[in-house]
Amino acid sequence: MSVQTPADFTGRVVIVTGAGSGIGRATARAFARAGARVLGVGRRKDALEETAAGRPGIAVHPADLRDPGAAEEIVGAATGRWDHLDVLVNNAGAVAFMPLADTTATGIADLFALNVTAPSLLAHRALPHLRRSRGSILNVSSTYGHRPSSGTAHYAASKAALEQLTRSWALELAPDGIRVNAVAPGPTESQALAAAGFPEAAVDDIKQDEAARIPLGRRGEPDEVATWIVRLTDPATTWLTGQVLTVDGGLELV
Ligand SMILES: NC(=O)c1ccc[n+]([C@@H]2O[C@H](COP(=O)([O-])OP(=O)(O)OC[C@H]3O[C@@H](n4cnc5c(N)ncnc54)[C@H](OP(=O)(O)O)[C@@H]3O)[C@@H](O)[C@H]2O)c1
Repeated sequence: MSVQTPADFTGRVVIVTGAGSGIGRATARAFARAGARVLGVGRRKDALEETAAGRPGIAVHPADLRDPGAAEEIVGAATGRWDHLDVLVNNAGAVAFMPLADTTATGIADLFALNVTAPSLLAHRALPHLRRSRGSILNVSSTYGHRPSSGTAHYAASKAALEQLTRSWALELAPDGIRVNAVAPGPTESQALAAAGFPEAAVDDIKQDEAARIPLGRRGEPDEVATWIVRLTDPATTWLTGQVLTVDGGLELV
């Protein structure tokens, strides 16, 4: 095996949540380019179909990850179609602007249902299959999973939880040969700010402010994150587990 060898996922089966936009779309397409069979999951069927257009390696499965039974149904869809499962990418997530003064039980529960509970239940359902394939779990955190974030404290807390799940599952599942890692992106072009309900003008201001704070001088592109998701789950990456790789243009350094 050469260090230059590009990831080869031929015959491997990958679930990518949040595959209808942003980092998840880039990730689904990157896995498909590497030869994987990919189940792309999200609520919007049309967005998933756009991700899959012209890419026979990608199948789509519309689902709301917060629905009871979603995890069982999604893992069943992948294994029913392809018989096995090698990689689970827990990418779907949302940011919520929720200062302490405006914090509500529903706001916390909604955010944690998507950012923490759904990845946990998917990993739970995927586990028997990952044991058989000696596969891998990749969680998508954020720079703010390990840095404080004013106004989005519960988002930061949900990502911190995901990072601690990553390390704990890595330890728990190492005897099964299952690797568990996370990528922590910094501000990256996607639909996340619009999905959080910020008006267009506010989104532009936030983007400019973020770009100005990033040492490399700009926000990231989804492909620049997806490439690391593929590399960390590459079957050739045999001895790396429990790690959180920050991909943020140096934001966490300042
Ligand atoms: N972009 C950034 O700056 C940034 C920075 C750090 C971390 N991240 C993390 O990166 C991940 C991907 O986000 P992104 O930036 O690519 O944002 P995005 O474009 O908003 O993508 C999020 C995806 O998740 C899906 N999703 C949301 N709620 C869902 C639900 N209840 N059930 C199923 N799917 C759901 C959305 O599709 P539907 O609406 O169709 O369901 C969407 O395709 C997230 O975990 C985010 O926290 C992003």
